[in-house]
Amino acid sequence: MAKDRTAYVCTECGYDSAKWLGRCPSCGAWDSFKEVRLGKAPVASYRHADASASGADSSHRVKRLSEIEHTDEVRLDTHDEEFNRVLGGGLVKGSLVLLGGEPGIGKSTLLLQTVLKMQDLNVLYVSGEESEHQIKMRALRLGGGDISILCETSLEKIYQQAEQFNPDIIIIDSIQAISSEQGEAFPGSMTQVRDCAVSLLRYVKETGKSVILVGHITKDGSLAGPKVLEHIVDTVLHFEGDRHYMYRVLRGLKNRFGSTSELGIYEMQSGGLRAVSNPSEMLLSRGSEGLSGVAVAATIEGARPLLIETQALVSSAAYGNAQRSATGFDIRRLNMLLAVLEKRAGFKLAQKDVFLNLAGGIKVSDPAIDLSVIVSVLSSTYDQAVSPGTCMAGEVGLSGEIRSVTRISQRVSEAQRLGFRRIIIPQMNMKGLDIGNGGIEVIPVGKVQDALKEVFRN
Ligand code: TYD
Ligand code: MG
Repeated sequence: MAKDRTAYVCTECGYDSAKWLGRCPSCGAWDSFKEVRLGKAPVASYRHADASASGADSSHRVKRLSEIEHTDEVRLDTHDEEFNRVLGGGLVKGSLVLLGGEPGIGKSTLLLQTVLKMQDLNVLYVSGEESEHQIKMRALRLGGGDISILCETSLEKIYQQAEQFNPDIIIIDSIQAISSEQGEAFPGSMTQVRDCAVSLLRYVKETGKSVILVGHITKDGSLAGPKVLEHIVDTVLHFEGDRHYMYRVLRGLKNRFGSTSELGIYEMQSGGLRAVSNPSEMLLSRGSEGLSGVAVAATIEGARPLLIETQALVSSAAYGNAQRSATGFDIRRLNMLLAVLEKRAGFKLAQKDVFLNLAGGIKVSDPAIDLSVIVSVLSSTYDQAVSPGTCMAGEVGLSGEIRSVTRISQRVSEAQRLGFRRIIIPQMNMKGLDIGNGGIEVIPVGKVQDALKEVFRN
């Protein structure tokens, strides 16, 4: 007989250790280790598995792929175009979805307003954090409507209510607030959160209902519960944005039923989140044309073209070490681009402070923004504005070459749609590009220097 085992688990990040530690080596939290009992042996022994496999249950035997029946998954319409798109065309029946994000970013608002629109479905909104009264107030703020609410933190009681109420979708806000009475760990601990999620996964697979979990993520992203949950759930959505800006981006990080390249953009207003169907128009502040330090990048985020302004401020370093700071852009990549400018194009920037900002507080991971970053840095350095009506796309390589980017025709047509007169693109992208009716001048460039000549042409 295996004996009960115990371990010490960090309540902040779930790191486990055989002995108690004062400080978690994984997340750095102090005094966060609590003892948990792990029960019997961690995995079924070989002999045990062998015995149970001899049972007649056909769902547990080895099958050929051709034997398995194909059925398309049923998708439920959330009546929110952006939300549907990020989910891959609606919420899959019998799936477990995790919506992660920092506290206060708008997760509860997004879900509540979506639920309010789903009047054709039976949705149960379970809140473990807010009172009925608070939810009512928020719903009124979002425009009202009638939905079913349950304020409860016990998983068993949620199951009980769900059995009576028989909803199609259950929203649980948040998974960190829920605990199981059977679990031995205390509520909110990593073990509890994980056990509840595993239990809910089993629940959705057995009943065919869909469950959306809300999970809080701390500022540095990696800590707290949701990272552990990502392996368990079917779909992970991330709601992000800078709290001081109004834009929020809903991104798919993992999706067992669709692609993760989709993106939903919302604007936080006093009456809730409004889907932004035309993001480029909002992200471009037309007033900044003709100013130095500003350039427009034709990027693709997810599968959508997005024109974004990069703004740079370059000034002489006041004290010894030059400062570099970037908002919405990877600082290491900025340093790399500055090194390319220094080494390959002969610009002396080592003694300069460089500040970079992407307008709107949106994070961009598309490398095609590189060229625009370089151009805005030089535009600020020499106090010379980019010639009007110009935008650009291109990844910058270590030898100063402009590398090709994906989906070039989409970028060109978005730039044209928004009234840009010229777009600078990588030479290598010219092959096979259909310029269409020629409403926009497409300028191919091969090296950083060539691009600069074009950009600052008056
Ligand atoms: P919330 O949805 O509670 O965030 P989360 O569930 O992710 O913790 O709300 C986030 C913020 O949104 C809150 O501070 C106030 C703001 N807000 C609006 O600006 N407009 C609105 O209509 C609502 C409901 C909230
Ligand atoms: Mg909330």
